[in-house]
Amino acid sequence: MTSTLAGLTALVTGGASGIGLATAELLSEYGADVAVLDLDPAAVRAPLRGFTADVTDDDSVRSAVEETARQLGGIDILVNNAGTGAAGTVADNPDEEWARVLDVNVLGIVRVTRAALPYLRRSAHAAVVNTCSIAATAGLPQRALYSASKGAVLSLTLAMAADHVREGIRVNCVNPGTVDTPWVGRLLDAAADPVAERAALNGRQPTGRLVTAQEVAAAIAYLASPAAGSTTGTALAVDGGMAGLRLRPEPQA
Ligand SMILES: NC(=O)c1ccc[n+]([C@@H]2O[C@H](COP(=O)([O-])OP(=O)(O)OC[C@H]3O[C@@H](n4cnc5c(N)ncnc54)[C@H](O)[C@@H]3O)[C@@H](O)[C@H]2O)c1
Repeated sequence: MTSTLAGLTALVTGGASGIGLATAELLSEYGADVAVLDLDPAAVRAPLRGFTADVTDDDSVRSAVEETARQLGGIDILVNNAGTGAAGTVADNPDEEWARVLDVNVLGIVRVTRAALPYLRRSAHAAVVNTCSIAATAGLPQRALYSASKGAVLSLTLAMAADHVREGIRVNCVNPGTVDTPWVGRLLDAAADPVAERAALNGRQPTGRLVTAQEVAAAIAYLASPAAGSTTGTALAVDGGMAGLRLRPEPQA
């Protein structure tokens, strides 16, 4: 894939950490000129360009997207990756938390895409990739709010793909399983027994290990690239087999 993105420009939200940072770095390695939009882009290093914005604030999104397009000379690829988590059953999260998480995970995509659309329409290779989740397609315990937000991301991906296909804009999403990022590190640190919690998360994946941020980045880069020119309205699972496989228990030694 080296140089497959030469001459293209990309904007990655939540690109200062984890999956977003790995994606921004890979798109850059493949030849794209890449901007990162994040609450705190201080960790972003050249040749990546960091822009401060909060996806819950329409004014900050519009200014960051316009400045990105000005500096890059347009936007061909948009990766809507910024997201936040929540734990609990349907009984556990107050209305304010529902509003906050849906604001970041769902409306964040709406705001950034809305601001980027005029530039995407001018591109000959326009692609949007949303970071969705296994939580959109499998019932996970203690993830009612987060799953509802990612279910909305999956449906929004399909609707956006339909609306913009005739404008030449492809829209897809990736559905990662549990990925070894700073986010999951924070969840493990907060667990009563982090070692047992990590073992449980590893054991939930048929591959027996967490997904790497680089593996998710590779899937996003493929969907974003002209090589995927006939692929739109799809969800690509990067989940160690979690969504599709039904294994028998491992035989006891
Ligand atoms: N880590 C996992 O197991 C996993 C699994 C499936 C899906 N995801 C999704 O992947 C995406 C990235 O997760 P990650 O694990 O890399 O997390 P992370 O915490 O390492 O990175 C998230 C980035 O998003 C930024 N961000 C958060 N809120 C923002 C806002 N309002 N405006 C702008 N930027 C904001 C943060 O500053 C951070 O840099 C999220 O959408 C998450 O739901 C993660």
